[in-house]
Amino acid sequence: MAAAGSAVGLGNIWGFPTKAAGNGGAAFVVVYLILAFLLAYPALMAELTIGRHARRNMVQALQAISTGPISRLVGTLAGYSGIIVASLILSFYAIVAGWMVSHMAEPVSTMLGMTGASEWMTGGSTERNLIFTAIFSSLTMLIIMGGVEKGIERWSTLLMPSLLILLVLLIVYVLTQPGATKGLEAYLMPNFDHFNPQMLLAAMGQAFFSLSIGVGTMLIYGSYLSHQESLPRLGAVVTLVDLGIAFTAGLLIIPAMYVAQEAGTDIFAADGSLIAGPDLILQVLPALFETMGSVGLLVAFAFFTLMVVASLTSSISMLEVPVAFSIENLGLSRKVATILVGLAIFAMSSLIIFNFDTLFGLVISISTEWGQPLLGVVLCIFAGWIFNRNQLLTELKQGDPHIEDSLFWKIWPTYVKIVCPTLILMAFAQTIL
Ligand code: PHE
Repeated sequence: MAAAGSAVGLGNIWGFPTKAAGNGGAAFVVVYLILAFLLAYPALMAELTIGRHARRNMVQALQAISTGPISRLVGTLAGYSGIIVASLILSFYAIVAGWMVSHMAEPVSTMLGMTGASEWMTGGSTERNLIFTAIFSSLTMLIIMGGVEKGIERWSTLLMPSLLILLVLLIVYVLTQPGATKGLEAYLMPNFDHFNPQMLLAAMGQAFFSLSIGVGTMLIYGSYLSHQESLPRLGAVVTLVDLGIAFTAGLLIIPAMYVAQEAGTDIFAADGSLIAGPDLILQVLPALFETMGSVGLLVAFAFFTLMVVASLTSSISMLEVPVAFSIENLGLSRKVATILVGLAIFAMSSLIIFNFDTLFGLVISISTEWGQPLLGVVLCIFAGWIFNRNQLLTELKQGDPHIEDSLFWKIWPTYVKIVCPTLILMAFAQTIL
């Protein structure tokens, strides 16, 4: 549940639907499904297997399985990079999640008649950003201080099902509104005209981000897993849940946009493409909620609660990466580690808030478009080349005694060894050339 919670986040409910809408609807969905299973699932398996085998954080885990000075150096560097990238992702993620918190609070204050407060909360001022980022970061820190069982696992088990229920309720509501069918068409009718290398890259980046790959999150969760657990099954469940929620979120977000259009909101950008990014969630949807009258306040509250819940189960998994490192490598207590690391990341978020126009996009691009896939390549190479076949088999046999006869074992080792790194690097060559 915790690993699925890490995977399911803003990437699913916000990133996936808007990318699908802008890239030919179902055409993108099909490409995404293929890439998720062919590239992201094998990479996820590499991370989980290394984590459970080493039972340590990414730095120590890659060091532990390295076989010579070079692989040790690469492993150490990649391990530290993973911690940095996880922290960078959290620093911008907490800002966006902070917007979700403020939009969740807004209908409440409107209901109480505090219109001034409501305007401030959705106004986008620097103070607003700082305060709500601080609130979201504190929530994340509180859960992480609770530890693995009482913090991460308990909250993920509680929050994940409530997320699904909220999502389904909202879909039922939106699909009964005028304009929804147009949205369904835009989402589900494939338009393969959009098929191009850029779309492939967008789908790949989305898959890596959505499955939380490359930054040691899944590795550290793997390190907390028991040896009775079948890794290939667990990885498949996480992938399916992640894809399922992304697809389901599309059934909400895209029809909701067309319902908003029906109600008079402009949903197309100047170049004719659908509005994406912050504007979609923070302008189009609130405009839609407003047309619903007083029910709209409730729906707005429910929707943004959903976003906050999804963000929290992801943000805790990001914070756990540097926190576990500080506990295991620096000998800090969980409480002290959480406070120190949490404050450092909040300082980074503040830096981004104060230099929003220059830093926000840059940090997202460095961490998710470059950091995650490149570290994904390193993890695949460690699982495929440094970790030998016997070690892999021994690890996977725990919890899965008959793995040798499975289709997974016939395909996966070659996949992580050759196919995954090559395809990821080819996709990069595309962007650079
Ligand atoms: N997978 C999360 C999402 O879709 C983001 C994430 C990335 C979480 C990296 C952990 C590590 O929102």
